[in-house]
Amino acid sequence: MSGWQHRHILDLSTFSTDDYAAVLQLADRFRQLPVTGARRLPALQGRLVASLFFEPSTRTRSSFELAAKRLSADVMSFSPSSSSLSKGESVLDTARTYVAMGADVLVLRHRSTGVPQQLAEDLDRLGERAVVLNGGDGLHSHPSQALLDLLTLARHFNPKQPTPDVLQGKRIVIVGDIIHSRVARSNLWALTACGADVVLCGPRSLLPTEFADFVAAPPPGQARDPVPERGSVTVHHQLEQALPGADAVMTLRLQKERMRQQLLTSLERYHRDYGLSHQRLQLCGKPVPVLHPGPVNRGVEMTGDLLDDPHVSQVEEQVRNGVPTRMALLYLMAAAESVAEPSLVSISS
Ligand code: CP
Repeated sequence: MSGWQHRHILDLSTFSTDDYAAVLQLADRFRQLPVTGARRLPALQGRLVASLFFEPSTRTRSSFELAAKRLSADVMSFSPSSSSLSKGESVLDTARTYVAMGADVLVLRHRSTGVPQQLAEDLDRLGERAVVLNGGDGLHSHPSQALLDLLTLARHFNPKQPTPDVLQGKRIVIVGDIIHSRVARSNLWALTACGADVVLCGPRSLLPTEFADFVAAPPPGQARDPVPERGSVTVHHQLEQALPGADAVMTLRLQKERMRQQLLTSLERYHRDYGLSHQRLQLCGKPVPVLHPGPVNRGVEMTGDLLDDPHVSQVEEQVRNGVPTRMALLYLMAAAESVAEPSLVSISS
């Protein structure tokens, strides 16, 4: 863990294979903590975590707040509707208000791409100690979601040792509204870094073929890819081509709130062509786990039967894995800024 270099966590394009290994190892250890009785670790005692969600959230917000509490941090949350945003205060000034109250970590979600990055740059320029953890920005990035997805997949393939290399050569199919999905973008970075072969599938209106080149070059402003060799990315527009040979399938929510124009003829047609069901999964040729970041449009991305089938659906497992994954991120960020690592007493190695 001493090699952790990230002050802020904004995007997974900057993560190395060692970074993924550190998160998975720590998250898996936190996952084994008892969920009843004495659940708190002293790691973040005296630290203040502010959850600043300018866009709605159930899972990410609650699990970051629970993760912070389980590490003994103080937690402040913010509600846009009852805040001074309505009086014209800017997002950056709102965030800096929480820093002035002593926040050490700002978990930030915003509907616009780049807001967490702008805030991080602002804090660095001002010499502030506080760090930014991206809880999802626009279409760009949702790092903690992709990391909990990675833990879920790695544990599925090897429950005893969920390390990045267990994804090597696995065919992971991601279905649906790729163009509007920050979850898909973050998963592309994470899964290919672990050597997975990612197959994207969706209608042409939601999946431009250029996505096949998504991880081929580092994003603008990033000098080099920290992962020397990535898995592949391919694009298909028909499930019949995408599913055969799959080792796992992830389906994504249709993000109607981000669709500025009519991109689908009807939800019924979408479900007919891209909806997952037990019957359709037979195309994989073997039993496979199905992931969805939530919230799910029941009967659109997948049938209700499939969503409720614990032998296939990983949706609740993903939610469970969200807390230890976010504990790992908070812990690593705190460790990076401390001379000594925060205490991990009572976690067996
Ligand atoms: N997956 C996800 O980000 O869910 P929430 O919007 O509920 O946080």
